[in-house]
Amino acid sequence: MLMRRWGLCFLVLGLRAAGPGLVVSQDRLASEAGAQVLAEGGNAVDAAVATAFALAVTHPSAGNLGGGGFLLARQAGGQADFFDFREKAPRAASAGMFQPGGVYSAAVHHESYLAVGVPGTVAGLHAAWKARGHLPWRRLVEPAVHLARGGFVLTPSLAASLEKVLPLMAPHAASLAQFSAGGRPYRAGEVLRQPALARTLARIEAEGPAGFYRGATARRLTRDLKAHGGLVTLRDLAEYRCVVRRPLTGTYRGFEVLAAPPPSSGGVVLLEMLNILEGYDLAGQGASDPRTVHASAEAMRRAYADRARFLGDPDFNADLPVDRLIGKDHARALRAGIAPDRASRSDPARFPWPHESDETTHLSVVDRAGNAVSLTYTLEDSYGLKRVVPGCGFLLNNEMGDFNAGAGLTDATGLVGTAPNLVQPGKRMLSSMAPTILVKDGRVFMVTGSPGGRTIPNTVLWTILGVVDFGLGAQAAVDAPRYHHPWLPDALRYEQGRLPEALGAALRAMGHTLEAEASQGCAEVILADDQGRLAGGADGRWGDSAAVFEP
Ligand code: DON
Repeated sequence: MLMRRWGLCFLVLGLRAAGPGLVVSQDRLASEAGAQVLAEGGNAVDAAVATAFALAVTHPSAGNLGGGGFLLARQAGGQADFFDFREKAPRAASAGMFQPGGVYSAAVHHESYLAVGVPGTVAGLHAAWKARGHLPWRRLVEPAVHLARGGFVLTPSLAASLEKVLPLMAPHAASLAQFSAGGRPYRAGEVLRQPALARTLARIEAEGPAGFYRGATARRLTRDLKAHGGLVTLRDLAEYRCVVRRPLTGTYRGFEVLAAPPPSSGGVVLLEMLNILEGYDLAGQGASDPRTVHASAEAMRRAYADRARFLGDPDFNADLPVDRLIGKDHARALRAGIAPDRASRSDPARFPWPHESDETTHLSVVDRAGNAVSLTYTLEDSYGLKRVVPGCGFLLNNEMGDFNAGAGLTDATGLVGTAPNLVQPGKRMLSSMAPTILVKDGRVFMVTGSPGGRTIPNTVLWTILGVVDFGLGAQAAVDAPRYHHPWLPDALRYEQGRLPEALGAALRAMGHTLEAEASQGCAEVILADDQGRLAGGADGRWGDSAAVFEP
């Protein structure tokens, strides 16, 4: 025991000598807020909480108070916790709620106030801080209050993003007031101030979760929802709790992989794919060899089929076969069905995919001591429901859209009607978010994660393959091309302009249907070397990502 303690001490001291901690997020000001917290003696959880609150101000399409997500924390000593602050269905929710008059409505499912789930972010960040944080709570919320109250200079990409969403916000006075300059789009270089959001943040700063789930914020939120047919009540808010779960654990080529458990599908899908791919000599083949991309596509196809079939909120599905799905035997059996040179077919008669959107955000942190956080959170769609709560300055989520459409509603248009992810009061909707940490010889080796809806586990997969199989550094692994096969629709997606002609031809010859998409995901990665020295990979695909070392 004594030896173990000393061992730990050396570990911590050894890493301490290695240099400053690092924060990688989708916005420079938010990364800086987290890095400054590290410099003041905060740990990785402190920095992650400060970064997440700052993102709620500076990256409003996905950073949030009104949404939810997952925070995976690993202490340098080895303890790992998964803070599940996924939104929940309100008490008044019911399985048929997306079928008004008996007919399924995508608009109700994804774009109405019925799409708003009980928010989890404030409870989750607070629970993680309470369990693992070091600095005072107020210090972590403070940068966000300043950024909201004093304003910040709009980057070209945020200005462009706000301009694009403006027509959708225009019918909602509070949204228009907050995110436009008197009705016209903000220009890059102008200052965005969000005084109502600053007041909400100040209540959270002073009162903790009570500043959000009770009192003025809760009253305004529920009043707005009630006026528009939403279901979230004061009681739903008061009852919301973050759940601390055990991360899933797996191995990949000797690395320990800590991954997201249900109600995310992210970890199951990721581990299933890694287990399948472990049986191939990817390093020997190379990243852009047709055999590598084919094997990955077939692994994706199979893991995503299992996701659709089996997964949902574990608190409402006592018998989720998670252990079986992430086991090496299951992977062996699936691998046996993969032909080396022929694409298999997804069966379109079985559970196609529901609509999912593309806006979420991820941040990764490692501190001097070797503590690590991988955090992904979301409003679901870009800017969620596009509705700001009047007087509160934060956007509502439309996360209920991640529940299946309705019992038996499985069809070729993309609806899924399987039982594990049907709406029930208090249930958490199935997610694809996959905050992930790789460990080597007892120390954090890699922190990774991404937004991108159901592409997330595949983006995370390609960052891991880049590092582990192809020997890339953090930035190169983030920059490398990615692929996505969602099982259904039965097509292998690649990033526009990044598929070498010969590779495309070889994959087509194997029977793959190829589809281009503009880009895939926005991963934020940290790697630690044997000495604990850190390197960041900030994804340039969506604009403003930044890796910032503790000053
Ligand atoms: O939880 C999920 O899987 C989705 N609601 C996440 C949406 C998302 O990632 C959009 N991303 N950019």
